[in-house]
Amino acid sequence: MIDLHSHILPGVDDGPATIEESLEIARRAAAEGVRVIAATPHVRDDYPTEAGTMERLVAELRAALQLEQIPVEVRPGGEIAIDWLERLSADDLSRFGLGGSPRHVLLEFPYAGWPLSLHEWVFQLVTREITPVIAHPERNAEVQRNPEELRPLVDAGALVQITAASLDGRIGRSSQSAAFELIGNGLAHLLASDAHTPDVREAGLLGAVEAVADPVLARWLTLEVPMAIITDAPIPRRPETRKRRRLRR
Ligand SMILES: [Fe+2]
Repeated sequence: MIDLHSHILPGVDDGPATIEESLEIARRAAAEGVRVIAATPHVRDDYPTEAGTMERLVAELRAALQLEQIPVEVRPGGEIAIDWLERLSADDLSRFGLGGSPRHVLLEFPYAGWPLSLHEWVFQLVTREITPVIAHPERNAEVQRNPEELRPLVDAGALVQITAASLDGRIGRSSQSAAFELIGNGLAHLLASDAHTPDVREAGLLGAVEAVADPVLARWLTLEVPMAIITDAPIPRRPETRKRRRLRR
């Protein structure tokens, strides 16, 4: 599996404080079958991570992983707050490109309220041939009330990332049902951990894969789509879900 949202870098945001904890996140993820992790530190007012800092920490963590023989590849990235998009240069934005792809950027979706400028930003980024990946909208109360509000953004070219802990119910029922609704309605494209600590409940994706209860769809969400993102390839077609197949009969 490929995990494209993780605060695995040490000492830069609200993720792990030390590189030992970063290694532990990687160890737990590896044990669940995760082979690639995008390091996506916050880029926002309270954690104004610079691209150079992220790159240095990715290099340090890669070296440590190799030394410890942990079979996980860490790649660059960032979780960009929407109000930071206008502050970042084109060069910065491509350095924060998700999983090392300069044509994809992970956008932080707020937990409350609807970000008014998001529509305009999705349009602007798509026009610049950058695909916005919207992080965990299922945790937002407005999306929980009406998941269809995301459809215009998806139609405009955005991809949607669901957090694993939402799907398996750890974050609560509202996030869980929104996550299922988004996946069921074709409004979600990838699963990621959004891990901040080595806690076993945070580091992996397996609980969410089990919750999806459809191995073909789970593979698309955890491997095929993230692989297409990091290799800048077209997003593969979403497999038919069991629900749809059942509906058709
Ligand atoms: Fe995050």
